[in-house]
Amino acid sequence: MSRIIDWIDQRIPLSNTLKLHVTQYPAPKNFNFWYLMGSLALVVLVNQIVTGIWLTMSYNPSAEGAFASIEYIMRDVEYGWLLRYMHSTGASFFFIVVYLHMFRGLMYGSYQKPRELLWIFGMLIFLVLMAEAFMGYMLPWGQMSYWGAQVIISLFGTIPFGIGEALTTWIRGDYVISGATLNRFFALHVIALPLVIVILVFLHLIALHEVGSNNPDGIDLKKPKGSVKEEDKSPYEFHERYTKKYDIVDSIPFHPYYTVKDLVGLAVFLIFFAWVIFFEPTMGGHFLEPPNFEAADPMRTPVHIAPVWYFTPFYAILAAVPNPLGGVVLMFGSIVLLFLMPWIDRSNVRSIRYRSSLHKANLAMLVVSFIVLGFVGALPPTEFWTRIGQVFTFLYFAFFVLLFFYSKNEKTKPLPERVTK
Ligand code: HEM
Repeated sequence: MSRIIDWIDQRIPLSNTLKLHVTQYPAPKNFNFWYLMGSLALVVLVNQIVTGIWLTMSYNPSAEGAFASIEYIMRDVEYGWLLRYMHSTGASFFFIVVYLHMFRGLMYGSYQKPRELLWIFGMLIFLVLMAEAFMGYMLPWGQMSYWGAQVIISLFGTIPFGIGEALTTWIRGDYVISGATLNRFFALHVIALPLVIVILVFLHLIALHEVGSNNPDGIDLKKPKGSVKEEDKSPYEFHERYTKKYDIVDSIPFHPYYTVKDLVGLAVFLIFFAWVIFFEPTMGGHFLEPPNFEAADPMRTPVHIAPVWYFTPFYAILAAVPNPLGGVVLMFGSIVLLFLMPWIDRSNVRSIRYRSSLHKANLAMLVVSFIVLGFVGALPPTEFWTRIGQVFTFLYFAFFVLLFFYSKNEKTKPLPERVTK
């Protein structure tokens, strides 16, 4: 075995890369539950790609055949139902995991210097993931696929000076949503966007390993070379790339410590995942909506069109503004502001543990607003709920404005020299 590995190593840097990026990656010793989500996102990504490839083998990307081919997968293809539910449940779990992953970043200030690019790559992943999920939802060619796409594509039509109209026709490849639209969404969903996501995840991890992981205390564990007493250095062998420039404190090698910890987390995650797949595959109509079990009918609009749960907060922001163009601008603005977090937050302290009560309250307000907007976006639009949507849209944006102003001179707690727990 070792001769085979030597043979490979003389031709490509296999062992070295594994040591550098997996086994000897110095991970802070105080990682908690929240640091599991990155690994879980990777697992779900692989699940989506593998089940997706198998679904593609029996799926027919045409307006005439798409709905029937999904029924065929569900009823006749061996374990087709399992593949489909793993994929559709996987989509929702992807967003659950990614939202928790992003919240962790916000909590511990993981977007702050020097992790700005890491954060931006993450946000790009999020953006492409939303496009990927939207196009995937269109493929079963059910009522919600069709009418959901109708609503979302027509958003681009709000752009003035004739640009919007030309743009929507260009996106659809037709004057109405048709088989041509389905075809191109299929191409984008199965190859173009997954490729972009995989490349972005690769860049995300390169950026992470260049600067090193943040941790729940938000303090640096890489100290300038020679500034740390011998007994304070982490007593582990790390790849020399990590130790040449820095002394490392309070870190442990990724393997075996976090490979094992992540496996335990993965087992718990899979229990939830399997429970949904086997017992609640539509999750009460939230992961797969009831109208999508009826074939698309351009002549019959569903009573209530709402996007899948992971889009509803943004949908509620869109609906909060009476002017359609204003709604679209605000909706995109709500995502742009997240991109800009490294520059909106001007505090020198990263972790919520050492930040002011004002900051804690502000972050809590963001979370509550996002959740309430998620509920509002799923409901039929009444005057009352539109008002509530407006109030929480205001609070969502207030988070960023307030943060920009108070973070510069925020009263933070003193940072510890070393990680606490
Ligand atoms: C396909 C989606 C994604 C995958 C597979 C992924 C993967 C990972 C992995 C494996 C880590 C290291 C483990 C960890 O810290 O949890 C990580 C860290 C990180 N990710 Fe992601 N990520 C994804 C999406 C995102 C998104 C949407 C954002 C936010 C905009 C983001 C922001 C970050 C940040 C800031 C870190 C460093 C956290 C720290 O060190 O405290 N990621 N990601």
